[in-house]
Amino acid sequence: QELQLNLEQIEKGGYEHFMLKEIYEQPSAIQDTFRGRLLANEAIIKMAGIEDNMKKFLNADRIIVVACGTSWHAGLVSEYIFEDLARIPVEVEYASEFRYRNPIITEKDIVIAISQSGETADTLAAIKLAKSKGAFVFGVCNVVGSSIARESDAGAYTHAGPEIGVASTKAFTTQITVLTLMALRLARAKGTISSSDFRHHLIELELIPEKVKKALESDAYVKTIAEIYKDAKNCLYLGRGFNFPVALEGALKLKEISYIHAEGYPAAEMKHGPIALIDEQMPVIVIATKKGHYEKVVSNIQEIKSRKGKIIGIVTEGDESVKGLADHVIEVPESSEFLTPLLTTIPLQLLSYHIAVKLGKNVDQPRNLAKSVTVE
Ligand code: AGP
Repeated sequence: QELQLNLEQIEKGGYEHFMLKEIYEQPSAIQDTFRGRLLANEAIIKMAGIEDNMKKFLNADRIIVVACGTSWHAGLVSEYIFEDLARIPVEVEYASEFRYRNPIITEKDIVIAISQSGETADTLAAIKLAKSKGAFVFGVCNVVGSSIARESDAGAYTHAGPEIGVASTKAFTTQITVLTLMALRLARAKGTISSSDFRHHLIELELIPEKVKKALESDAYVKTIAEIYKDAKNCLYLGRGFNFPVALEGALKLKEISYIHAEGYPAAEMKHGPIALIDEQMPVIVIATKKGHYEKVVSNIQEIKSRKGKIIGIVTEGDESVKGLADHVIEVPESSEFLTPLLTTIPLQLLSYHIAVKLGKNVDQPRNLAKSVTVE
């Protein structure tokens, strides 16, 4: 028993929980995802699974992403990235809905299955169905040799290393990294971005691990915010564009480890219903980085403020407008818009972690949840 405990402590590498260790591993995990694939100086992306099947990717009518939970959120981020950079239509499906819906799948479809464990029963069943209809299946998994990796026609591992905490953290950011590399590689092959933009994007991507490190520096401040809001009964997470799925992911993280009810919404949808929930008891976490729809998000923040909601803004370093409106602002480094999810996710992971710890919850093994869901 004692030996077991010591072993676990060694595995946690000095961190109080696996989840916190895995949050802090993200700069190096993303670096590992890049290894051998991202050659920014030479303006090259090398991914065997893509190169070997380039024709299929170039002739594809659309990409269908199938996944569950956090992996589904990574898929949603990739929808914005693939469509923006590579101009390939993308549909993102809950594996469990897709497989039971009699979906229309053709030989010209590429199905991307995203799964940390590679063992999720619904995702596995969805790719078996897609294969039986002649689609080409590309797996994005973390666990090497897992069922989904074996069942796929080709794929790319995330190389995040073992993820022990039930709440997925580094798996999410490394999945987004793989999908971003894929989108950039395909954009270059299709000619939907110029060679100078491609070069610029690769350099920006290479800077992400350092920027994630910087984003992690908000930890102590996020902990003080957690103390203020730990007794909240509900929380709303808002984001737009590339950061809408990050809002969903932030809400999922809070729900699963702190058991506080939380919902993620596209910021503009707030006025179609959720705004009715806002009062002085409601913390609203708003991702408002200085790109894309910034002005619109700022006006959403004004709407929350006039209804006395408590505002926690996730902003770009040096932001002044949101600071003047929000109760708290957490800064992340500036970056190209399509890369911001890799940064804005960090404070949301930390916020849910600290709230759960302060509430005395079992952070690494929340009630009713398993690391991989192998039942339907
Ligand atoms: C994430 O924090 C969850 N524990 C869960 O939603 C998870 O992402 C989902 O079960 C999918 O797992 P997979 O990536 O191993 O397929």
